[in-house]
Amino acid sequence: MSKLTRKQRREQERQKAKATKRPRAVQKYLRQALTHQQGRRFEKATALYERALQMIPDDAEIWNQLGSCLLNLDRLEAATAALTRCIELQPKHAIAHANLGNAAARSGDLTGALAHYKHAKRLAPRFSKPHYNAAKCHAMLQQWHLAVDGYRAALAIKPDYRIALANLAVSLSMIDKPKEALIMARKALELDPLDLVARRALARAQVQLGDRAAADETYAEILQISNSPELVHMREAMAGRTTDAPPAGYARDVFDRFAVSFDHVLDDLEYRGPQLLAAALEKILPPPNADLFVYDLGCGTGRCGHYMKRYARRMVGVDLSSGMLARAEEKGGYDELRCADGLIDLQGVADCDVVISADVLIYVGRVEPLFAAISKSLRTGGLFAFTIESLDYGDVRLEISGRYSHNYDYVASVGAAVGMVPVARSRATLRRELGRPVACDVLVLRREP
Ligand SMILES: C[S@@+](CC[C@H](N)C(=O)[O-])C[C@H]1O[C@@H](n2cnc3c(N)ncnc32)[C@H](O)[C@@H]1O
Repeated sequence: MSKLTRKQRREQERQKAKATKRPRAVQKYLRQALTHQQGRRFEKATALYERALQMIPDDAEIWNQLGSCLLNLDRLEAATAALTRCIELQPKHAIAHANLGNAAARSGDLTGALAHYKHAKRLAPRFSKPHYNAAKCHAMLQQWHLAVDGYRAALAIKPDYRIALANLAVSLSMIDKPKEALIMARKALELDPLDLVARRALARAQVQLGDRAAADETYAEILQISNSPELVHMREAMAGRTTDAPPAGYARDVFDRFAVSFDHVLDDLEYRGPQLLAAALEKILPPPNADLFVYDLGCGTGRCGHYMKRYARRMVGVDLSSGMLARAEEKGGYDELRCADGLIDLQGVADCDVVISADVLIYVGRVEPLFAAISKSLRTGGLFAFTIESLDYGDVRLEISGRYSHNYDYVASVGAAVGMVPVARSRATLRRELGRPVACDVLVLRREP
């Protein structure tokens, strides 16, 4: 936390005076709790704060400290309850508001988090953390201009705030300000040459400035620090090299991280993949009669389930990411959810009436092996409904977003080669990105005899 205002200092002194009035036994618990907290032994600290609260249950600061420990233990509901109690006792507790924001953000409620950070910022305008955390929420919601404003506000308070510099570089690159992004990334790298966020932002800005060779070199350096599947994949994307498929583990890692906020973010981006596919299928399938075997390939958090359930006698969802599947499980509607690569899982599947795959081929690359497996798993006359991000020239292209776009003629010809012919095709807006619509093709192929 940066310099306190006079008002905040007065409040701190008031708290100190209050603290010295605490019973001796409580003061002892709190000293011990703080030592454990500083040593990251949060279970022990939590137990001591709880004991202290049994003796003085109306001490707002102890509730805040307890909430903060519970947050570190990832006990989000209990943390929220403790922090809410703190605020009931002391409505102007800026840190508790900020902590509540963190609890909401971690549970995926980014809009709720932003409301708490707003309180914290109003109560303690010189407290840099809520500005930074609010900016991160905006970035997750792809509200890049707001993210830029937030990081700048945090940096105005704390100019050497390295992660704010690195993330500002990312957001600036997203709003097409690569020159500024480059400067911010370099500033962050002066503070920590190993900062991966800053290096990735630097590479992206280099691509935007037309220097793919420099970006390739930056990624070569990144891969010396960490060679996770995501970084390996993004190097190819930045260098403009279209691979046949992403490295194993890429989609799983990305979506395990994204799972908690996926539905909030996609709602905010007006994502319509499942609706578009359901509308296309509705025109072809007989009226829903709960009598079909539906296979949701890359089911994610289960958004297609909502639309397909009424058709399904049996509905199976398959996804690489256990994080996403946990959300689908909460939503319900599937008879079975399996954590697997669709390409492998399909080998044990036969007689499907419908295979649906919304916004998944963008993580697959070339589709020949997958289409062959889908064709084998469909009964004659069965349907394969999917979306692709549209590409007008070439077969497949790996974009700098790390997603693949596909040409309609290419996917149609791969389908035809394995006995699946188009029965519906339309162009639509899949969602927004950076405020602009993302075009997709919605396709339904039918398995021929
Ligand atoms: C953008 S999400 C779409 C999720 C869902 N279909 C929807 O429309 O909300 C893409 C999902 O595809 C999954 N995925 C990507 N490649 C896959 C594969 N080869 N097998 C199974 N799932 C895959 C990812 O883990 C992720 O959950």
